[in-house]
Amino acid sequence: MKHASLRAGFGIAAAIFVFFLCLANPANAQRHQQPTPTGPWMNASLSPDERADLVLKEMTLDEKIALLHGVGMPTEDPVTPENAPSNRGVGYAVGVPRLGIPGIDMSDAAYGVRSSGVNGRYSTALPANVAAAASWDTDAAYDYGALIGRELRAQGFNMSLGGGVNITRDPRNGRTFEYLGEDPILAGTLVARLIEGTQSANVIGDIKHYALNDQESGRNSVDITISKRAARESDLLAFEIGVLQGHPAAVMCSYNRVNGDFACENKYLLTDVLKKSWKFPGFVLSDWGGTHSTEKASAAGLDNEQPGHFFYSDRYKAAVEAGNIPTSELEEHVHRILRSMFAAGVIDHPRQRSVVDPFAGFETARKIEEGGIVLLKNEKAALPLSAAKLRTIAVIGSHSDVGMISGGGSAQVDPIGGNAIKQAGQGSTHWQEEIWFPTSPLKAIQARAPRATVKYDPGTDPAAAAALAKTADVAIVFAYQWASEGMDLKSLSLAHNQHDVIAQVAAANTHTIVVLETGNPVTMPWVNAPAAILEAWFAGSDGANAVGNVLFGTVNPSGKLPNTFPKSEADLPHPTLTLPPPESAHFSGPVSIEQREAGLPPFPVAYDEGVKVGYKWYDAEKKAVLFPFGFGLSYTSYKYSGLQVTPGEKVKVTFTLANTGAREGSEIAEVYAALPAVAQEPPKRLVGFTKVKLNPGEKRAVSVEVDLKYLSIFDEQKDDWSLVPGDYTILVGGSSQDLPLKASINLK
Ligand code: BGC
Repeated sequence: MKHASLRAGFGIAAAIFVFFLCLANPANAQRHQQPTPTGPWMNASLSPDERADLVLKEMTLDEKIALLHGVGMPTEDPVTPENAPSNRGVGYAVGVPRLGIPGIDMSDAAYGVRSSGVNGRYSTALPANVAAAASWDTDAAYDYGALIGRELRAQGFNMSLGGGVNITRDPRNGRTFEYLGEDPILAGTLVARLIEGTQSANVIGDIKHYALNDQESGRNSVDITISKRAARESDLLAFEIGVLQGHPAAVMCSYNRVNGDFACENKYLLTDVLKKSWKFPGFVLSDWGGTHSTEKASAAGLDNEQPGHFFYSDRYKAAVEAGNIPTSELEEHVHRILRSMFAAGVIDHPRQRSVVDPFAGFETARKIEEGGIVLLKNEKAALPLSAAKLRTIAVIGSHSDVGMISGGGSAQVDPIGGNAIKQAGQGSTHWQEEIWFPTSPLKAIQARAPRATVKYDPGTDPAAAAALAKTADVAIVFAYQWASEGMDLKSLSLAHNQHDVIAQVAAANTHTIVVLETGNPVTMPWVNAPAAILEAWFAGSDGANAVGNVLFGTVNPSGKLPNTFPKSEADLPHPTLTLPPPESAHFSGPVSIEQREAGLPPFPVAYDEGVKVGYKWYDAEKKAVLFPFGFGLSYTSYKYSGLQVTPGEKVKVTFTLANTGAREGSEIAEVYAALPAVAQEPPKRLVGFTKVKLNPGEKRAVSVEVDLKYLSIFDEQKDDWSLVPGDYTILVGGSSQDLPLKASINLK
């Protein structure tokens, strides 16, 4: 009741606030005026392609060109006539006002809508994308995208710049938290659902960064070399599934070069694979500043330059007029943009501002986090905690008195009230700053153990932390590893003195629980010390309640690792990350168009591990890992039995799953395949999965259908997927290294 009236109160207050915001700033009122589209293209019974062509017929050359580029970054640039109607996000394309075609108003939206604070708005921070991946839950992925879509729309945007699906080829990548793990089938399946969710709100969805942008160091200059087969079976497969199943209206090409050409002027990537092989009907926009040419990029398949217009404005027009770019090519780009606007519904359902419901956001964020937390270790059933048995609790480290860490860069969502570790009024977010969300683990723990004395130690001095731990019934150490776009981690070990804190606290108290707040895998020289370890990732707006619910057993953990946690960097395919030489790191001073055209000098990184990404590498190289891909414990136990595999259009894998413990739980059942030896593939690959909820003692028949493509190799000669005839082994279980069921089938 109290909740409901609070909610209503907030809604009214926020609506009044928005109303006055509009009154106070005439530019706002202008922004909300959306042209009313009229004309034959408003006949909704026509296809998006037919409607686009009807608009195209009416457009002048200048109008066509205007749709091919951005008009700067409204977040940073002064207001101009071109960007004035924008919502002050990171990108804007002006549309065709004369014909009532709205502008494309873009916001970053990896784990929530970016830059809302500066606009006096509120956005939910979902847990990091990698946490959603750890849930292996396709419905959760949809809810994740749908919340982003709703909040984008509520804030006046009609395009998302989310949908990051670069696979975790190097776990030090600073954007690992923005992506969906190391496996292309898991990541691709989840990103497709996320995109569907976003587009359900009549917002243009995006998938990025296409492609092979797997390290941040030197991302604008690096030249990735990889074979077609390895690329198609690894990084590109995640995009292929995302594009074919999620139908994003847009694809963002990446900064890096691939086999010699920048991704945003790479004919193989943009035309041969994306537009021809996958028949992608939407448009390609460049990552911010990732366009390097006019004719070359246009012919290669880049449809839209962002955020500015160095190459796709006057130069483009001149090239068309000189006959260097055929009109048909120009019109294809325009057609793709318009048809995507019709397909996503941004013309039929114009954006309308409304008030974001923070309560709904908190609930969705909390549920997704609860499904994505991974229990990595739980000796002697140290978890869940029993409030009745605890008199004293020590909470240690990572500002866990006030907040939880979030991922940085263009993904950064503004926390309500600013950075939780700063004074009120000083907490605005800045590029590459550690931002703590005001969700307090200390308070969440105290609320669940009201009779216990809960004491906090900041964890700055290991000895002091250990002294507090010694006096407590349980010590809960929060440890974090911040990460951001624009940087890679130097190593996978926890920063500062956190290793020492954990080691000394665990030595002082046998009932020590470690809660990790990281986006990347971490190494754990201290792994044997604590009784329990939880990976909570970057936990989002209501992260502390999710962690509290798992710690105290209101929620049974069910997440599993979407990335392998290696024992050491020495075990990685590239033990040392290749850094750019100084001249390739960044431009110094103002950048001329000629410099943009040439780009920073390339430096090579060979992805010579090829398809052996993540667990495929460790399996093939027979390297032991700290925690394997697909691993995660529960407060109950499961038993797998009765595997049957039936070939067909799809291979049908059925088995029985039983909850053999005393608590309800959700188990992620994983299906792997070992291909015939002649295929020369790594020992096994994930080919399917499902998350099943079971009551204590319940037994259920489970069935997973496996697409034949997932059992195939990419044949470079045929330039297509090909099933290698022979014996396939299907393996089923609860982790990539715990696969109790095994069956063989012969496929032709
Ligand atoms: C990032 C993109 C982002 C864009 C706009 C780039 O630096 O790589 O992911 O969407 O900026 O902020």
